[in-house]
Amino acid sequence: MQVMHALRNIVILSGAGISAESGLRTFRAEDGLWEDHPVEQVATPEGFARDPALVQRFYDERRADVLAARPNPAHEALGRLDREWTGELLMVTQNIDDLHERGGARRVLHMHGEALSAWCTACDTRHRWDGRLGDGPACPDCGEAMLRPDIVWFGEMPYRMDEIFDALARADLFVSIGTSGAVYPAAGFVQQAAAHGARTLELNLERSLGSRLFDETRLGPAGELVPRWVDELLSGSSGPAPSMADPPSE
Ligand code: APR
Repeated sequence: MQVMHALRNIVILSGAGISAESGLRTFRAEDGLWEDHPVEQVATPEGFARDPALVQRFYDERRADVLAARPNPAHEALGRLDREWTGELLMVTQNIDDLHERGGARRVLHMHGEALSAWCTACDTRHRWDGRLGDGPACPDCGEAMLRPDIVWFGEMPYRMDEIFDALARADLFVSIGTSGAVYPAAGFVQQAAAHGARTLELNLERSLGSRLFDETRLGPAGELVPRWVDELLSGSSGPAPSMADPPSE
């Protein structure tokens, strides 16, 4: 006999691919950021210690790109999902842009930090920041010129991991959008969710390193796949959502 239960708790993981159609470069594509910016120079604490001006310049450019970008239909569809979904929903993004929020989403968690935030390492406060850090501005709180980009660099601990693990443990559905599956701990979320019984869906331009771990993979641009999936979900006409069938009991 098949047991049906309502889908309530969703965790969505997004990566650079969801913002590609907004004109923000991904990392590992042929024209990706890591092609012309060595990771160890611009995305490690050691690189920052060695050449802070280089790192500040890199993120000043990123910040300007984010401010100039606009949400695309994928962000807007997830904004709608956030407004209309009455169950639990957590959008864990690896992206430092604010396009999820500008697309209308509220239940967003930036596990790798935010471009529009500066972190004072003297008084450990964080500040909304639209301007440049390259000129060594003073911290609005303590006045020290010790502001760094509020970004999680390689070798540093991603933010709010306990909340993410809690949500994965309760998820009925895990959806990954626009990520290559190249970076942990994010690349391991699909297995954690599946281990807790969640169905897993991948929406990506091309197969990722973790595609084989998903129950279902749909290939194409996020700007097309995500609105279609959200429509299905909210109209209740798609598997694996809104109500899911448990495997028939023996
Ligand atoms: N729609 C859907 N997917 C897309 C699109 C698109 N329009 N364009 C590209 N993609 C997919 C690519 O196929 C690729 O699998 O998005 C993925 C982007 O992969 P990466 O460039 O590796 O970016 P991401 O997975 O977000 O990187 C993870 O690595 O460099 C660090 O901290 C950085 O958060 C980042 C993390």
